Amino acid sequence: MVNYKDLGLVNTREMFKRAVAGGYAIPAFNFNTMEQMQAIVMAAVETKSPVIMQVSKGARNYANGTILRNLAKGAVEYAKELGCEHPEIVLHLDHGDSFELCKECIDNGFSSVMIDGSSLPYEENIALAKKVVEYAHQFDVTVEAELGVLAGVEDEVSSAESHYTKPEEVIDFSTRTGCDSLAISIGTSHGAHKFTPEQCTLVNGVLVPPPLAFDILHEIEKKLPGFPIVLHGSSSVPMEEVNTINKYGGHLEAAIGIPEEQLREASKSAVCKINIDSDSRLAMTAAIRKHLAEHPGDFDPRQYLKPARENMKKMYIHKIVNVLGSNGKL
Ligand code: G3H
Ligand code: 13P
Ligand code: ZN
Repeated sequence: MVNYKDLGLVNTREMFKRAVAGGYAIPAFNFNTMEQMQAIVMAAVETKSPVIMQVSKGARNYANGTILRNLAKGAVEYAKELGCEHPEIVLHLDHGDSFELCKECIDNGFSSVMIDGSSLPYEENIALAKKVVEYAHQFDVTVEAELGVLAGVEDEVSSAESHYTKPEEVIDFSTRTGCDSLAISIGTSHGAHKFTPEQCTLVNGVLVPPPLAFDILHEIEKKLPGFPIVLHGSSSVPMEEVNTINKYGGHLEAAIGIPEEQLREASKSAVCKINIDSDSRLAMTAAIRKHLAEHPGDFDPRQYLKPARENMKKMYIHKIVNVLGSNGKL
């Protein structure tokens, strides 16, 4: 058993309380590699922001759970080395799909887990989330559960269609599960292709997607005043990164994300955790493609991973400062 407190990590409870009260959101960045971890820590330290570093089941399969946990431990020590005396770093399991996986993470240094039973029938989702909460709370690990279904495909959790969260269910669900935060579905989705061009409106040559269902978010907030709400699928898919990827040999068509103004708006509400993964993937790939195209003789991974890390760090800082507003909140 490895307790997250011994690794210098924190759970989400206090940071969510402050974020809801302060009208900002905590960034939840996925990581699979050391360079992503370093970029996240550098960005969080420079902006004095709390941060959630999250690991999916796919990330654990790719990088190995023990290695990722030790990267998170290293992240705390690295943040201190960079001059941050008291970093607030959460190691979170993203989209846990079984009690066993959540338990394994809780037993091995995670400070927060998500149990994603959103594709199960309502009562089964409640029973599974409740079981995870009962186990997690014994170790002061916080639990995110999900109600409503996001469209999009992840490694292990996938759905072709989205179903918005029903506000009439949220009180019953959060009370009976005892979860610490609730992920909702209001029109975001996973990946870099969140909308088809046909779903968008052309404004000044730019495809603008339909707005998120803020009416549903506000209804949920009314039912659960002050309760921490989570938005998944919140990458914005920056055009400049997509253009760079395509300019240097990539082929990404109709990549469309969530406009940042809408995420800024959501951050001011009870939405206190915003999940971003695809934007990091795009920033990394764009920088690597550009570097290799401009330096065809380079073959030392450090030569192209360094600009990739810089580009991700720039993106993380931008999200923290200009979109989520968690800068200076340590
Ligand atoms: O929401 C899912 C994250 O983007 C993780 O994706 O399962 O491909 O690691 P992944
Ligand atoms: P994006 O694919 O929009 O980055 O969403 C990531 C996410 O929700 C991780 O859980
Ligand atoms: Zn997600």
